Amino acid sequence: MALSQSEGNAMATRPVLRMGDPRLLEISKPVEKFDTPELRRLLTDMMDTMKALNGAGLAAPQVGVLWRVVIFGFEENPRYPDAEAVPFTVLVNPKLTPIGDDMDEDWEGCLSVPGMRGLVPRYTHLRYQGYDVSGKLIDRTVEGFHARVVQHEVDHLDGILYPQRIKDMRQFGFNEELDAAFEDEDDESERGEELDVDE
Ligand code: NI
Repeated sequence: MALSQSEGNAMATRPVLRMGDPRLLEISKPVEKFDTPELRRLLTDMMDTMKALNGAGLAAPQVGVLWRVVIFGFEENPRYPDAEAVPFTVLVNPKLTPIGDDMDEDWEGCLSVPGMRGLVPRYTHLRYQGYDVSGKLIDRTVEGFHARVVQHEVDHLDGILYPQRIKDMRQFGFNEELDAAFEDEDDESERGEELDVDE
């Protein structure tokens, strides 16, 4: 999921696959060994790539590595005062457990679907478990945008891109057109801030 575009530094970024690449539809494999040079390098490159693209999250399959690895997190952004900060997190072999049946709809984008966004239902409350790069257990109960980001990223590990989750395809389009349309409306809550998942 991504924030907005900005110039990146000369870091070890990797190209991000775009929708249509069959690798984005694969089921990724669990990581079996932690703390390896390969896993550390993958995570460093994913971090660099996410930062260079001002993303809020990134999943390993988006850089062509079919391992169950996601990263996400961002600090508060003054351009999007309504979005709560999400702690920067590395999550290997994640397991999601929705808490209750409540779902919210909100706008998401994706670095693999550049320039677009859609209204996506997600569980509001969620427990997630997984491991950091060293194999240390992470176990959190979260809600709201934090829960949304995790669901978006973990979907990538099962070959699911957010457009597959959209219930009303009229609520899916190019950012420029949606922005222009929303400018004619007064409802701030429907503006669809560009705080998109890993867009
Ligand atoms: Ni994405």
